Amino acid sequence: MFKSAIIGLLSMMAVLLLPQMAKAEYADVVINNYSDAAGMRPAVFPHWYHRIRFRCKVCHADLGFEFKAGGNKITMAKIIDGQFCGACHNGEISWSVENCGMCHSGIPGTPTSIHGSTVQRLVAPTYKALDGKSKPK
Ligand code: HEC
Ligand code: HEC
Ligand code: HEC
Repeated sequence: MFKSAIIGLLSMMAVLLLPQMAKAEYADVVINNYSDAAGMRPAVFPHWYHRIRFRCKVCHADLGFEFKAGGNKITMAKIIDGQFCGACHNGEISWSVENCGMCHSGIPGTPTSIHGSTVQRLVAPTYKALDGKSKPK
């Protein structure tokens, strides 16, 4: 009796927590504190793409990324100095910083925000197949 109540409670908690966790893990982050003002397209950070390659701890503890879209005051000087994205995008762990357009691929004017979800990612390839040009975002 007691045991089944605990199991019931736990599965209720799982149902309540899962959608929020999925959002945190899978969405792309558009980072635009400075880009627009500097005449660059906003930077796009594909969270899921990185998440499958690294543990949360690598970025959010070791590299010091705050858990907040736009919360890190990232500049190119810091990236070139090996901080933030530059800890990996240095031509060793991953491709280097001269590939401007790989990161600065946001639509001009998009504010700092979180885009996409697991559902959109799963659905987008179908659209792509249909019209041959939509890009999953
Ligand atoms: C690995 C990803 C990445 C690459 C590659 C990259 N950037 Fe950035 N860049 C960022 C991020 C993230 C920001 C912070 C965006 C913001 O808050 O607007 C940024 C900010 C900027 C800014 C505004 C802030 C500042 O430091 O002046 C400019 C201008 C800029 N980048 C130019 C470039 C140019 C030019 C290149 C290619 C030579 C480049 N970036 C390559 C990720 C990248
Ligand atoms: C490769 C680096 C990297 C890894 C791995 C990573 N993150 Fe992030 N995370 C970031 C960056 C970069 C941002 C955006 C920060 C910014 O805009 O300045 C971010 C933003 C976030 C945010 C705030 C935005 C949102 O989507 O709600 C949360 C929450 C978050 N991460 C959770 C996680 C969790 C949980 C994991 C592991 C399952 C994880 N991250 C793994 C780099 C990473
Ligand atoms: C912990 C290491 C790490 C950090 C930090 C990191 N990246 Fe990456 N990133 C990678 C690796 C590894 C790849 C896969 C490409 C490869 O194998 O070289 C990648 C790929 C990408 C891609 C290509 C995605 C695609 O669909 O092809 C983009 C865009 C990108 N990173 C942007 C960023 C931005 C913006 C930041 C900082 C906000 C960042 N990354 C921080 C390791 C990292």
